[in-house]
Amino acid sequence: MCGIVGILGSEGVADKLVDALKRLEYRGYDSAGVATIVDGKILRRRAEGKLRNLELALEREPLAGAIGIGHTRWATHGAPTERNAHPHATDQVAVVHNGIIENFLDLRELVKSGGAELETDTDTEVVAHLITQALQAGKTPRDAVADTLHRLKGAFSFAIIFKGEEDLMIGARRGSPLAVGHGDGAMYLGSDAIALAPFTDRVTYLEDGDWVVLTRTSFEIFDESNLPVTRPEHTSAATAVQVDKGNYRHFMQKEIYEQPEVIGHTLSRYLNLNKLCTTLPKGTSVDFAALDRLVISACGTAFYAGLIGKYWFEKYARIPVDIDIASEFRYREMPVKAGDLALFISQSGETADTLASLRYCKQQGMRIGAVVNVPESTIAREADVVFPTVAGAEIGVASTKAFTCQLSVLASLAIHAGRARGVLSAEREAELVRMLGEVPAYAVKALKVEKDLEKLSQPLSKSNHALYLGRGTNFPLAMEGALKLKEISYIHAEGYAAGELKHGPIALIDESMPVIVVAPHDEIFEKTVSNVQEVAARGGRVILITDARGAAEAGINAWKTIVMPDVPEIAAPIIHAIPVQLLAYHTAVFMGTDVDQPRNLAKSVTVE
Ligand code: F6R
Repeated sequence: MCGIVGILGSEGVADKLVDALKRLEYRGYDSAGVATIVDGKILRRRAEGKLRNLELALEREPLAGAIGIGHTRWATHGAPTERNAHPHATDQVAVVHNGIIENFLDLRELVKSGGAELETDTDTEVVAHLITQALQAGKTPRDAVADTLHRLKGAFSFAIIFKGEEDLMIGARRGSPLAVGHGDGAMYLGSDAIALAPFTDRVTYLEDGDWVVLTRTSFEIFDESNLPVTRPEHTSAATAVQVDKGNYRHFMQKEIYEQPEVIGHTLSRYLNLNKLCTTLPKGTSVDFAALDRLVISACGTAFYAGLIGKYWFEKYARIPVDIDIASEFRYREMPVKAGDLALFISQSGETADTLASLRYCKQQGMRIGAVVNVPESTIAREADVVFPTVAGAEIGVASTKAFTCQLSVLASLAIHAGRARGVLSAEREAELVRMLGEVPAYAVKALKVEKDLEKLSQPLSKSNHALYLGRGTNFPLAMEGALKLKEISYIHAEGYAAGELKHGPIALIDESMPVIVVAPHDEIFEKTVSNVQEVAARGGRVILITDARGAAEAGINAWKTIVMPDVPEIAAPIIHAIPVQLLAYHTAVFMGTDVDQPRNLAKSVTVE
């Protein structure tokens, strides 16, 4: 979840490193640092907190050099202080690292017994010392690195530079992503192609276990057994343009407002609105009729999208769906059937647990589908079939537009599967496709409730807790609403199935407990309403998010009712995601938290 970058280029490399780090800050923002080589010596600048602090440090004390490495940190081992900030260095080497070295405690003892004096609490520092001790034993830089890599357990990507070597950089990848960028008389390493986009679009992705030796004009890749290998070069589509907030106050707000457009782009890949049928993107054929069941796994918001997908696949295509969060799935040793489809959902396409679950299913002979937003990501590259979301770059750490695009893909796939399995008639398919095709227009209307939700931010900010309730597809949406509120406002919130309330959580209800109920007027509306009555009767402050019919028929003394546009059932979860996003957003803005980069979080979770 840290971001790493390396540049073998020309004088003034520190500015370029910072430029690349700005594009990687979504991966972590606890601290940042760069190291370059000047007159053969390794020099560093590091700063606690956001990248801006590193920029200030570099303004105070500029750093020369034509070769360098940089890092933006999401702390795993050791507090997010300057002392623990990367690059970690001895006088011989400097290292930036993304990942976790699992056997670092043993390795600490090992390097200490070899005379190393450790200065930090990090797992990474041992790597610098292991390489140094190998160099001191007379090994060449590449042998010292190869030797060190074999001692490491865990997940990592590294960029490493060496004292006195101004035309040498070594990178390595196991578990965490790393790309080599090819320039003219320059070479680059980066956690992703986005970081390298200002410099080059020619990119080679290292595979697991690979390590690479770079000079300005050459690169050699070796596999885990140190045998030379070739990996294909790609032309990256990542844009060099730095995405900006435009007129919006935060990326999150901008991304919420982009939803009508990006949902439209996404749906256009899956729906033929002239012929009123689903049409899958080229190269994504799946024999849904042959499936006995579907396995879905993902993390966080993407998992909630998958849960809503489960309702759809079961209802519209009668496919039984097994779904689990990827951090559990990967260790469950779930029995699966070779040939069945496993679907992994991920905005970044790099989430470590999701990737590990994908690999488990692949090993078991399953066909792998991936609903991903970053087309060049590891998950996209390892899947057999990629179902793209076309959300564009999502910068705000809290996922918004990627979620509604994931839902758009899953709804389309469920209809497609329903038709393929003979569950849906051509007429019903046409009806559902027409409904989904209207989603961008409904989303425009849904955004109009922003002012009403903004008014709730002040009273909601006074609460220490909140409950979100929903039934059916609104249950995962309730959990998504609670997650959004937690992660950006730091208010404790839980999402519950409305019918489950009386089995325990109703004990929490009193007049200080806001209860946000997502309940469009659907076939189980009345059931939800009776659960909400139970809350209102106990003094709970109900915020009812419903449509005009729901508002008219609820008969609840709600604290506040948010009236959404009338939408058909298949569109409802996509459209009702918007008010829960806006409610969390405005509450966080009112409370003055760092909305786009909330504390302790990172956009891409590449560690377990
Ligand atoms: C919440 C959020 C996270 C991610 C999760 C999975 O707003 O963004 O819960 O959804 O970390 O990330 P991806 O989709 O990149 O696999």
